[in-house]
Amino acid sequence: MADKQAELTVGGENFDFPTLKGSCGPDVIDIRKLYGKTDRFTFDPGYKSTASCESALTFIDGQEGVLLHRGYPIGQLAENSSFMEVAYLLLNGELPSQDEYADFTNTITYHTMLHDQMRQFYQGFRRDAHPMAIMCGVVGALSSFYHDSTDISDPEHRKISSHRLIAKMPTIAAWAYKYAVGQPFMQPDNSLSYTGNFLRMTFGVPAEEYEVVPAVEKAMDRIFILHADHEQNASTSTVRLAGSSGANPFACISAGIACLWGPAHGGANEAALNMLREIGTPDRIPHYIERAKDKNDPFRLMGFGHRVYKNYDPRATVMQKTVREVFDALKVNDPVFETALKLEEMALNDPYFQEKKLFPNVDFYSGVILSAIGFPTTMFTALFALARTVGWVAQWNEMISDPGQVIGRPRQLYTGPTQRDYVPLDKR
Ligand code: ACO
Repeated sequence: MADKQAELTVGGENFDFPTLKGSCGPDVIDIRKLYGKTDRFTFDPGYKSTASCESALTFIDGQEGVLLHRGYPIGQLAENSSFMEVAYLLLNGELPSQDEYADFTNTITYHTMLHDQMRQFYQGFRRDAHPMAIMCGVVGALSSFYHDSTDISDPEHRKISSHRLIAKMPTIAAWAYKYAVGQPFMQPDNSLSYTGNFLRMTFGVPAEEYEVVPAVEKAMDRIFILHADHEQNASTSTVRLAGSSGANPFACISAGIACLWGPAHGGANEAALNMLREIGTPDRIPHYIERAKDKNDPFRLMGFGHRVYKNYDPRATVMQKTVREVFDALKVNDPVFETALKLEEMALNDPYFQEKKLFPNVDFYSGVILSAIGFPTTMFTALFALARTVGWVAQWNEMISDPGQVIGRPRQLYTGPTQRDYVPLDKR
């Protein structure tokens, strides 16, 4: 909605730009006509002050530590909802009725199998391949199997592709794990929940019955909820940018997985647990805090700090609580949790972290839980990708359904050589 005007003076001349108002959060200055009017671009590497799109899915107030999906606070969803329900909510805008919920979970359940030929793809990877390398490749390869649903201008095709992606991701991730450990791939079991099925495909073997531990299933489902969507983060923006050219959804999600892999984004949970294990005992924490504060040392406290949250990440609060539940259910007591709690306490009392508003993020505790459940660290980011697929497809759908959607094409501040003439090789 256009509201008041923002004034900008360029070269002594005044220009007006409309200010748009969302339902929550800061107003935005609509600068779409800036270049045309002023012959200037804006410069904002890292998009620290740039809203790249309009979206009705997720709202974050980083100063207050608030995260809402379609208006519902993440704490309420994590406490009362299920991952399938949150997926429905993100895709459709409203919580489902009982019939809608049953229909949706049924549809997802019946899309969990992979085309049998997909098995061959796995054989092409080295046994020690990172699961994210496998995920990027296999998800991208899905586009070669589903020509019946890649007309992105058809809402029904988009819906089927979205369901396929959400449904097949647990199978793809579980098989990436199975391939690494050399165990047979497990087929989905339609009698289980989305999350129970994933646990069975990951930790079950064909020779034995696998019993899903309800507390672990609940914790895992909650972890999926906490990772389902997070506004215009790097991987979601990657999915949108890839999709803006009209690329098929499987290729777009594969691009999102590639972006998520990096240690500054989804790879942080793996890095955070590795860091906690390296620290080892609480007496070594001060040394690592000093390293994190030292500008000449590239070391950072992994799982700390966030581009948007300048307060406690509300997802980290739920994660910390979930650690205790999983430890109780599995009767484990990994000393790494005590190290994490102590590190958090010391960092939050340190002026460096206070002044820079650096708080634990969702990744600080998630590795501790996932490790207790039995996942190797290399699988952590793959689990994140599995859950975030819901957000990616919801955001991609929102973008493609927008009649005003255009290809994403940033500009630049060019600092290279000005035009010069080619010099033949024998003259150089
Ligand atoms: N440890 C120590 N210092 C830090 C940390 C940290 N974890 N994070 C930020 N800082 C410092 C920076 O050195 C910088 O200091 P300066 O102003 O003196 O130069 C200041 O805080 C601001 O940091 P930026 O990197 O400019 O902040 P930005 O918003 O660009 O980065 C990021 C956010 C990438 C998450 C950063 O905090 C970080 O690297 N954290 C560790 C990795 C991590 O946990 N990533 C997960 C993010 S959540 C997610 O993707 C699910």
